[in-house]
Amino acid sequence: MNKTTLAVIALAALAGAGYAVLRPGQDAAPDVQSSTTRPSSNAQGAPMVEVKTVAFTGNEPLGETAFNAKCAECHGVNAAGRNGMGPPLIHKIYEPGHHGDQAFLLAAQNGVRAHHWPFGDMPPVEGLTVADVGNIVAYIRALQRANGIE
Ligand code: HEC
Repeated sequence: MNKTTLAVIALAALAGAGYAVLRPGQDAAPDVQSSTTRPSSNAQGAPMVEVKTVAFTGNEPLGETAFNAKCAECHGVNAAGRNGMGPPLIHKIYEPGHHGDQAFLLAAQNGVRAHHWPFGDMPPVEGLTVADVGNIVAYIRALQRANGIE
């Protein structure tokens, strides 16, 4: 065994030891990180995803007002979902290709039978015109785009 080989072995051993020592820290890291990337807690009603907001334009502010009045109770502020109550609409399964704009109108008019989430059925939502739901869709799509869901 020449000196180079020895040095390589020594380095490998050191790296191995370093790995073993660092390991617990690395395991702990996801928890530390998730407390910032995943909002608050698993408490009933807590937001389920983190949503980046945007400056709303056009019909979007009207949609935000209607959403906060009629939908946020279950779907959460910024449609971030509420644990145990309603899913986040800022979520890949509600991207336009999976749940088109029509799905929002149908949901508001007829309600939704639970199929994606364990939160029970969504009841029909009274007191919204087709235009109101259109504004809500514009608002949700703006938030979805801001969060990379297209
Ligand atoms: C009483 C609680 C509640 C309210 C109020 C509510 N939702 Fe929902 N909504 C739910 C739940 C729960 C689901 C998930 C059903 C499932 O398991 O897929 C859902 C699902 C949806 C879906 C997905 C539909 C599909 O085809 O899968 C859309 C879109 C939606 N809601 C939009 C809205 C809009 C817009 C409003 C306000 C006008 C609203 N919701 C108000 C509880 C609610």
